[in-house]
Amino acid sequence: MATMASTILLLIVLHLLSVATAQRQPSVALPGCPDRCGNITVPYPFGIGPDCYRYDGLESQGFQLECDDTGPSPPRLTFFGHSDYSLAKLSLATSEVTVYVKATPTCFNFTSGLDGGDTEAYTSVDKNVYRLSNNGDIDVPLVLDWAVRDLDNCSAARNTEDFACRSTHSNCFDVTKDAAGSGYGCNCSTGYDGNPYLKGGCTGVSVGVILLGSMCCCLCLARQKSKLIRTKQKFFEHNGGVILQQQMQSYGGTTGGPTGGFKIFSTEELKKATNNFAADQILGRGGHGIVYRGVLADDSVVAIKKSKMMEETETKEFTREMLILSQINHRNVVKLLGCCLEVEVPMLVYEYVSNGTLYQYIHGGKGLDANTALDTRLRIAAESAEALAYMHTSASPPILHGDVKTANILLNSSLTAKVTDFGASKLAPNDEAEIATLVQGTCGYLDPEYLMTCKLTDKSDVYSFGVVLLELLTRKKVLCFDGPEENMSLVSRFVIAVKAGRHGELMDDGVRKGMGREALEEVSHLLTRCVSMNGEERPGMKEIAERLEALRRYQQHPWGQSDGADSEEEKSLLGRKQQRDADYKFRPHDVLDLEGGSTHYFSV
Ligand SMILES: *[C@@H]1O[C@H](CO)[C@@H](O)[C@H](O)[C@H]1NC(C)=O
Ligand SMILES: *[C@@H]1O[C@H](CO)[C@@H](O)[C@H](O)[C@H]1NC(C)=O
Ligand SMILES: *[C@@H]1O[C@H](CO)[C@@H](O)[C@H](O)[C@H]1NC(C)=O
Ligand SMILES: *[C@@H]1O[C@H](CO)[C@@H](O)[C@H](O)[C@H]1NC(C)=O
Ligand SMILES: *[C@@H]1O[C@H](CO)[C@@H](O)[C@H](O)[C@H]1NC(C)=O
Ligand SMILES: *[C@@H]1O[C@H](CO)[C@@H](O)[C@H](O)[C@H]1NC(C)=O
Ligand SMILES: *[C@@H]1O[C@H](CO)[C@@H](O)[C@H](O)[C@H]1NC(C)=O
Repeated sequence: MATMASTILLLIVLHLLSVATAQRQPSVALPGCPDRCGNITVPYPFGIGPDCYRYDGLESQGFQLECDDTGPSPPRLTFFGHSDYSLAKLSLATSEVTVYVKATPTCFNFTSGLDGGDTEAYTSVDKNVYRLSNNGDIDVPLVLDWAVRDLDNCSAARNTEDFACRSTHSNCFDVTKDAAGSGYGCNCSTGYDGNPYLKGGCTGVSVGVILLGSMCCCLCLARQKSKLIRTKQKFFEHNGGVILQQQMQSYGGTTGGPTGGFKIFSTEELKKATNNFAADQILGRGGHGIVYRGVLADDSVVAIKKSKMMEETETKEFTREMLILSQINHRNVVKLLGCCLEVEVPMLVYEYVSNGTLYQYIHGGKGLDANTALDTRLRIAAESAEALAYMHTSASPPILHGDVKTANILLNSSLTAKVTDFGASKLAPNDEAEIATLVQGTCGYLDPEYLMTCKLTDKSDVYSFGVVLLELLTRKKVLCFDGPEENMSLVSRFVIAVKAGRHGELMDDGVRKGMGREALEEVSHLLTRCVSMNGEERPGMKEIAERLEALRRYQQHPWGQSDGADSEEEKSLLGRKQQRDADYKFRPHDVLDLEGGSTHYFSV
């Protein structure tokens, strides 16, 4: 279709070109007068009909023509009162008229020149000699000179009212060679073209050139634009835009609105929002793309993620996930506001969260310190757990994050946690074929079981969350390459410390001091279960969120701070009386695996 459009454009330009070319030939008649008879152009001073020709007082030799194009072609033009001469061509540039005259072939001596209305005249055409005769049966072409003859020469005619050279940029030249007498003619000055016998008839050739040039530019731009539109449409379709639109329509139909404000953005909108993806707008670079800060037309601030390349087969899945994420409306999940699909790699538009990542908050040196209220840490942990629990349970099949880490938990200016980057997220695969063959995730957070089976489950997120919680409470990096090998992994350090009963030492000062023994045991127990080698032994995200919230309430309670208290209220507040009985025991291989550290030497 686009090809057709550009072809039409080309035709239009060609048409305009021919019009422009035609205008450059002396073809213009007086306004309102016919400028052609059949296919013969009739330029002023010639004209068909009253007031359409130049009247120079010589009735019989004026420029008046009669057109007869009613019969079969070619049309006949009658001029100078000679109805038997049919006109073939009128030329202003050469001041010549070509006529067809009736003649009979003859072998008589030939006479050069035409002698008035003399019928005893001869002409030679193609080395043959003809005698002009009204009863002749052959049309022979005859070229005649013409001139304006009401005054003898240019100097006499100039400055008179009837001076024939009407146009500015026109010249006058004398015609004397003619047997019919002297007169003058007009032509356009060098660099101009057109009809010198009309006001404004001579126009600059450069105007035409500029006109043509600009038309060519327009054509090129139009072709480029249509190519761009084609490319955009191709990407839009490639990136699943059509499916998304259809699904949005079906969703919109039931909710009555356009899917909770989810919007399909154009490339221009996002370019404008990010100042053409300026480097100083970059918020961060992740495993799944670059994130820019953007300001939309309505002044709202957003985060725009330029994703990495996608495989063709991934696009349908991507669209499905995107649609589901757009439906998620949870205070602890970064909201997906829209997307842009008309680029090679799709871009996603998210709610902007102002105060950076939890990773920066913990390790950045300006945020979390030993004195930060334990409550803040527990709240951030509980909120993150809430978000994951919601993702795991709200949709069917559950939405798995796949890359839970502190760098993927954002904080707003009131330190509310918001989980982001479901870029690696997968709807839980429901059959063997869908199980990912490529393990994705981040070293230090990756579920060792996932690494072995390549099967991402909700318990993989639980393991990663356990690492996040550990990081938050110890203020240590999950992988530390400075110390001895056995201390490289925070998880293995923790597991060994628990085994030795020295896990309290691993905790951050503020945590150690702020928590009672019971609470510390509780949180260590929870951590131990989260980072269990066996996924089945890990608690669900919902339980973790509840336990963290209970722990937080317990810490806020006055008797929470007291050391060594072991009252019934405390136990019930912690809500794990029953769990005490089935105390978690490490199995030998868990510890061996971790101590060997082998499971942490993967590269992704
Ligand atoms: C006009 O058309 C006739 C045939 O239709 C052709 O013979 C003649 O050359 C044409 N004249 C011009 C000036 O194009
Ligand atoms: C042709 O011209 C020649 C010389 O001018 C003359 O002798 C001859 O008679 C002429 N022929 C005719 C048929 O007029
Ligand atoms: C122009 O024509 C006028 C009158 O017809 C005549 O007097 C004059 O000499 C001519 N000028 C030239 C330069 O031929
Ligand atoms: C106009 O006509 C004169 C005389 O025939 C000629 O010398 C001159 O070159 C012509 N100018 C143009 C622009 O054709
Ligand atoms: C932080 O996010 C929460 C949840 O969306 C919101 O209620 C709160 O107002 C936000 N804080 C600020 C300062 O915007
Ligand atoms: C959020 O970030 C701003 C600017 O970086 C900073 O001034 C403010 O203290 C931060 N808020 C919190 C609660 O850390
Ligand atoms: C390694 O970790 C253990 C347990 O936390 C700790 O006692 C030991 O000091 C650590 N070693 C180094 C070199 O950090």
